[in-house]
Amino acid sequence: MILKATNLSSQPKIVTTVDALRQALRQPRRALGRIGLVPTMGALHEGHLSLVRAAGDECDVTVVSIYVNPSQFAPTEDLARYPRRLEADLEALGGCGADLVFAPDDAEVYRPGHATWVAVGGVADAWEGRLRPNHFRGVATVVLKLFQMAQPDVAFFGQKDFQQLQVVRQMVADLNVPVEVRGCATVREPNGLAMSSRNAYLSPNARRRARALSQSLVRAEELVAGGERDASEIVRQIHEVVQAAAPVEIDYIALVHPETLEPIAEVAGCTAVLLAVRIEGTRLIDNTLLTPPSA
Ligand code: PAJ
Repeated sequence: MILKATNLSSQPKIVTTVDALRQALRQPRRALGRIGLVPTMGALHEGHLSLVRAAGDECDVTVVSIYVNPSQFAPTEDLARYPRRLEADLEALGGCGADLVFAPDDAEVYRPGHATWVAVGGVADAWEGRLRPNHFRGVATVVLKLFQMAQPDVAFFGQKDFQQLQVVRQMVADLNVPVEVRGCATVREPNGLAMSSRNAYLSPNARRRARALSQSLVRAEELVAGGERDASEIVRQIHEVVQAAAPVEIDYIALVHPETLEPIAEVAGCTAVLLAVRIEGTRLIDNTLLTPPSA
């Protein structure tokens, strides 16, 4: 049953400290309200808002965290220029069912002397983990901290960041974290491009060329529907379609087991396609699940 015991006004309340967050959640928690958390780094788009709506459908109180987490960026990455637009974000959240926005500053999240990190193994090691050392250490640490701060019953993540979702699931299982993790479908632009805060870095021309990514995933789906099972042939054809975005640098294109993220040679059951490329220096990732008709 959904209690909707607290704030249901269209404008979410904003809090910036852990104390204020816990204070705001005290009453709904006592009333046994179901608390949902949507962790974000802001610059919200429809992908983020779909998670907020999913939380609103399932929970009595929806908390959206907006925090650009420095520990998941390498020194060479885009931390300084990552888009920050709190005002516009609050406006976008109005009417989406968010009750509370938690927007802490760095000092609130990482107190001086912070020295504890969450190192997830297994699913965190390959792909993004190999190309962005320490990235998932930063993600897992901040996600666990946000879980401790808000103590939600359920947390919502996008399949857009497929490996991140598996890393969070692995952490939650390994550390007995009492939070249910929901994975929500990728929201795309009308032209197929997966929505991302980093799409803002793309020139109109690069944005057009980036359509090739989702088109390559559709090609993979069509191949499997047509009976193709050989992973290397599917990867070859994805490669071919991605080249339409040229000049494009391909970091990886892989067919993997959807839980272990280990490469597979043959599509025998549900298989994830993971891809990461750089266009005009902007890193884009995308993925899809291939399900052979017999699986
Ligand atoms: P951010 O990139 O802001 O994404 C926040 C959440 O929105 C993630 O769960 C992400 O997978 C989801 N999301 C992004 N684009 C989406 C799309 N097109 N469709 C559906 N969901 C989408 O991911 C992070 O922030 C951070 O790493 C975080 C988990 C907040 C930790 O700092």
